[in-house]
Amino acid sequence: MAPPGPVVIVGAGIIGCASAYELAKAGCAVTVIERDTVGSEASSAAAGMLAPLGESTRSDPFQELALASWRLYPDTVAELRAVTGVDVEYTTTGTLHPLFTAEDVRAAGARCNSPLAKQMGLALLEGQEVFEREPAISKKARAALFVPGDHWVNNQRLTVAYAQAAAARGVTFRLGARVGEVMLERGRGVGVVAGGERVRADAVLITAGAWSGELTASLGSRLPVEPARGQMLALSHVPPLLKHCIHGADVYLVPRPSGELLIGATVERVGFVRAVTPEGIGSLIRSALEVVPDLADRPITRTWCGFRPWAPDSLPILGPWPGVPGLAVATAHFRNGILLAPITARLMKEVLVDGKPSLDLAPFLPDRFLK
Ligand code: GLY
Repeated sequence: MAPPGPVVIVGAGIIGCASAYELAKAGCAVTVIERDTVGSEASSAAAGMLAPLGESTRSDPFQELALASWRLYPDTVAELRAVTGVDVEYTTTGTLHPLFTAEDVRAAGARCNSPLAKQMGLALLEGQEVFEREPAISKKARAALFVPGDHWVNNQRLTVAYAQAAAARGVTFRLGARVGEVMLERGRGVGVVAGGERVRADAVLITAGAWSGELTASLGSRLPVEPARGQMLALSHVPPLLKHCIHGADVYLVPRPSGELLIGATVERVGFVRAVTPEGIGSLIRSALEVVPDLADRPITRTWCGFRPWAPDSLPILGPWPGVPGLAVATAHFRNGILLAPITARLMKEVLVDGKPSLDLAPFLPDRFLK
């Protein structure tokens, strides 16, 4: 069989870097083109939570995708560590959802009874059991839902690890070059124009996050991908107060081994307005102190925001561009880009090299927006 041809990837976020690594492992000559630096947007703004059950334990195609990616994580982090030496702080102590009302406790108890919840070990902790597991949770909590399968990583490090591993496999990174258009010839994707220069390839993969919409406009059919701003802050977490990720009604708290506690995140449709606001950060702090009051005097070490790529149905957009051989897209991962990176990379390699993905991509294809 002939070796697979060259691929250009637009965007060096975690999805672009992970896809570059998988494609390079399959023998492709890969060039990643990025207008800024590796992981400079949503990939570094995220908190790195790997929570495949989200808010539900109902089985649907998105949850199958999320679980498939979650299952890849232990081997992925071990492989990246072996190849690059980067420790991505993979932490597996699970999430606690403190519950403050009888109605919330009842709903969490019902959630624990689904077959998937049982398989994933969800447990309702009541009364003192909550504080034995996590003493700093507000004493107003009546109970807590424990989700042991929720893990997290340092997403900045993970993105760098994927990029380093890709570079070790010969991937070329062209940073600081803006892709203006995808080149089509005889109806095929044959490369991109980047910084005014034509970069030819056998296939193009668009992984441009919240900017995927404007890039696809050059194809005559704009994908409806929009930014969903997330604001976050970090507190000093030395000495640590929390062992688990804590998920309140409007807030999550992620303790990093490196000594920060991340608190996130707002979800705002304000376009590309790069700002943290008193209302955004203030509401996160208020919600965080409701679940863990003892954080009140911890120093705030930083605040930031990022632009999640969001599609109108909140699902990722994955797969070949309809009617254009040699063009594929992997974007709109919204709140799950870090979790979904390993499976997305695998699927993009399967789409572009094997011609057949191992999971049914029908619910995620770009076609749903290109009628
Ligand atoms: N992944 C969490 C968030 O989007 O806030």
